[in-house]
Amino acid sequence: MEQFLTYANGRYLKISLVLTFILSVVYLIHEPGQPKNGGTWFGYTLGTISALLILWLMYFGRRKRDYFSTLGTVKGWLSAHVYLGTGLLVLATLHTGFQFGLNVHTLAYALMCLAIFSGFYGAWAYVYLPIKKRANLKTISAEEYYLAIEDVDRQIIKLAKDLPEALSLMLNSAIERTEIGGNLLEQLSAEDKSCLIYKDELYANVDQSGCIHLLVEELSKVTEQHRAVQLKQIIDLFGRRQKSLKILRYHIKTNVLLKLWLNIHVPVSFALLAALMAHILSVFIYW
Ligand code: HEM
Ligand code: HEM
Repeated sequence: MEQFLTYANGRYLKISLVLTFILSVVYLIHEPGQPKNGGTWFGYTLGTISALLILWLMYFGRRKRDYFSTLGTVKGWLSAHVYLGTGLLVLATLHTGFQFGLNVHTLAYALMCLAIFSGFYGAWAYVYLPIKKRANLKTISAEEYYLAIEDVDRQIIKLAKDLPEALSLMLNSAIERTEIGGNLLEQLSAEDKSCLIYKDELYANVDQSGCIHLLVEELSKVTEQHRAVQLKQIIDLFGRRQKSLKILRYHIKTNVLLKLWLNIHVPVSFALLAALMAHILSVFIYW
């Protein structure tokens, strides 16, 4: 999916560049006999092309979900969507003749820009975030990390049974009070709100380091060889937990970053459609 930018050797980039170049030259050389604006013959031409482009860009939402369509591949459509959507920025701006004001016309224009700029972010996200996601997970899947944590937890609980009660309770609380995911903002910030209870007091356990710190302190005090080995094993297990949790937090965050922008892109597109209809209606009524 990430290769949509180079799809068919940049066919749609070329089409978009040629189209915007030709229309920009015409814009520069044409003399409408009045200030250049949306109401000249060329203004109407650019406005119509822009409005048709917007309708077509919006149709992408349907095309994307039509798995049986034989009308090109989704990758090809996305490539065209991205490049022609960017070209639209030039064409619609020329259509306005740079006449902006506090009115529904400029509202349509502003919404269009918002849709386009959120689209830029989306295109960036679709190219770079999957690479970052793969690098973060390395060779295994997110599910395997969750399973690995469950396995580590079982081992810790087993080893903790032999420890003094305060320590054993602390370890169990550290496992129980590990936080991952949460609401949207928490997923996005990847902030670790994990904590633990030690001797009836609540401590932060960010990145499992509170727990590891307590275990290391305990290790420095023990004299029995057998207990030291046990503690080292648990510290090692918490180290593995720490690593997996960190990877999963980043994974969750990237997944949100990959999806969240569409919640701006799509509603803004619909608002744009409404404002555009108002714009076209109002120019036909008042003109
Ligand atoms: C079928 C499509 C379109 C038609 C027929 C059309 C028509 C017009 C007309 C007649 C004007 C001149 C109005 C005036 O000078 O008072 C105008 C201006 C304008 N149009 Fe369009 N337009 C279309 C599409 C678009 C699109 C797609 C956008 C951007 C999303 C847009 C944004 C604007 C803006 C910002 C102005 C300048 C308004 C001003 O002078 O304050 N138009 N349009
Ligand atoms: C006014 C201009 C635009 C409109 C109205 C528009 C509209 C849409 C719509 C309706 C979707 C379908 C989303 C869905 O249903 O899941 C979409 C997807 C998308 N758009 Fe746009 N778009 C515009 C411009 C752009 C631009 C300029 C870019 C990038 C440079 C872009 C990048 C994307 C991407 C990456 C997707 C996601 C495709 C996917 O999830 O498979 N869009 N857009």
